Amino acid sequence: MSLASEPLAGAGAWIKAMVDGWAGYSEDEEHLTRLFLSPQHKACAQAVMSAMRAAGMTARLDAIGNVVGRYEAAAPGAKTLITGSHIDTVRDAGAYDGNLGVALPIACIAELDARGQRLPYAIEVIAFGDEEGVRFPTTLSGSRSIAGTFDPAVLSVTDAEGVRLRDALTAFGCDPDAIAGEARRRETVAAFVEVHIEQGPVLEVEGLPVGTVTAINGASRFAITVEGMAGHAGTVPMHLRRDALAGAAEMIAAIEARAAAENGLVATVGRLAVAPGAINVIPGKAEFSLDIRAPEDLQRQAAVTVLEATLAAIARRRGLALRVERLYDEPAAACHPGLMAQLDGAIARQGLRPLRLPSGAGHDAMALAALCPIAMLFVRCGGGISHNPLESITAEDAEVAARVFLDFLEHFDPDLG
Ligand code: GLV
Ligand code: MN
Ligand code: MN
Repeated sequence: MSLASEPLAGAGAWIKAMVDGWAGYSEDEEHLTRLFLSPQHKACAQAVMSAMRAAGMTARLDAIGNVVGRYEAAAPGAKTLITGSHIDTVRDAGAYDGNLGVALPIACIAELDARGQRLPYAIEVIAFGDEEGVRFPTTLSGSRSIAGTFDPAVLSVTDAEGVRLRDALTAFGCDPDAIAGEARRRETVAAFVEVHIEQGPVLEVEGLPVGTVTAINGASRFAITVEGMAGHAGTVPMHLRRDALAGAAEMIAAIEARAAAENGLVATVGRLAVAPGAINVIPGKAEFSLDIRAPEDLQRQAAVTVLEATLAAIARRRGLALRVERLYDEPAAACHPGLMAQLDGAIARQGLRPLRLPSGAGHDAMALAALCPIAMLFVRCGGGISHNPLESITAEDAEVAARVFLDFLEHFDPDLG
């Protein structure tokens, strides 16, 4: 991207090409899977650092595996506006979830740098490493470290291969004992503003390329283990069985029914493992994940309490042992009214209708809410599809979003009132 008559001309194609290039850093060629602290994550982090440096920023890998790019303020001692998003992905992911929110601010800073323009505040672009929580039974560890809420006990969790988070960090080139030092001092940070694809259909339906997020749903995640008795599929009469999978299936149906009955509540069982897993063996053990979200924390907590009781009752009736382990709890996060107004202002100055919408998906901004005011700019994605290889954006939308974000940066007033 070069200086052109129109600011950011060609930036949409540049952003898309950058993200599409990063999509090559994947565990397998056919599908995009880039998990926290994997070799593919390392290669992508290096590519992100190169892009940041080419855009006139300094770039480093921090103690928890975040890439931190920095564009200094016009004068020393100014506050920092943090932006960025994540570069880890789900399995068989789309390319733009998270990654757009890293590439787009880099394009904006490249434009500022090409003009030789500094702003009255410093900008950090952070490529967080652990937003999806796919590899380890923890999530948001990168953004929590920046916010100063990372729990060092989490360093002992292990992935499916038994690798401890602490050891994976060391192998990645990070120093787990330095994580506490990554926490930002509150008085030095003006705000966190994340750009992200919407991952839903609202902007497409409204015919708008961007929108201002009002709040992010809270989420709880669980690992659930159901144990019964493995046995011969041919010899044990139905009424004498303690089938762990049949019990888990009843639980999953109850979870779905509960969420479907309540406005705003969503619950997902995304993973199920059955042991021993043979066609002629009654399942002795079933393990599944549960992810519950709602816009209101009280609503989510009430649903969790009811579901825990429901699952326990099903287990009791079927003579099954039940273990429910809570992996993660993140409260709903409201976006700052002053920041939302500033984003709306940038959208309007670009000749677009400002639209406000909530976020059903989780984001690094949730963790940053513990540190500073947060806001998010959503970008339209094709069909509202995400967490799917069909995820798409257009270069035109990426360019409009970059113009809105640059406009926001140029007018940003850290005095949020
Ligand atoms: C992250 O994408 C999440 O909302 O699970
Ligand atoms: Mn995601
Ligand atoms: Mn995301």
